[in-house]
Amino acid sequence: MRYRGGMSLRAREIRAETAAVLESLRGVWDEEMVDEWDHAMQAAACAIEDGADDELVLAAALHDIGHSPLLGGPHVHDHCGLARDWITPRFGPRVGWLAGAHVSAKRHLAAVDPAYTAALSPTSVASLAAQGGAHVDPEFAEHPWCADALRLRRYDDAAKDPDAVGASADLVLDLAQKLAR
Ligand SMILES: [Fe+2]
Repeated sequence: MRYRGGMSLRAREIRAETAAVLESLRGVWDEEMVDEWDHAMQAAACAIEDGADDELVLAAALHDIGHSPLLGGPHVHDHCGLARDWITPRFGPRVGWLAGAHVSAKRHLAAVDPAYTAALSPTSVASLAAQGGAHVDPEFAEHPWCADALRLRRYDDAAKDPDAVGASADLVLDLAQKLAR
């Protein structure tokens, strides 16, 4: 049985766990222009602005939690898999998959859209090479949630602006509590 609603103990526990993981991203730097906290909140704001559904907004906020010192840390191998494995039992398979697919999505976009690669940040260009480079994986491309993963990737790439205002932590945590299962 799924636990729904703001009053459930499980949902409140998951909200607190999510708050702790997000808080731990303050001062963690993967990109040059924003820390992982600002990156997460800006990605969520981009998703909201794009009219994304609740699960996609939450996946955008949580996509890089593998870099949290509470999970893998800044230089961990496979930060996508860590995020997916942390998210899925708490918020379900779609949120987990979408967050875990953000490197596959980047490799896919780099393979099919030259303008995409040209606009990547220097850090993202370097990490693309380390992640195996441009690549179309049929398993990813034919996945029913592929289009949403590509949307999330656009939010990810846009969420590196030192002057942008991110979503509020309360908004993201309200979503976490609502989607907790
Ligand atoms: Fe990211």
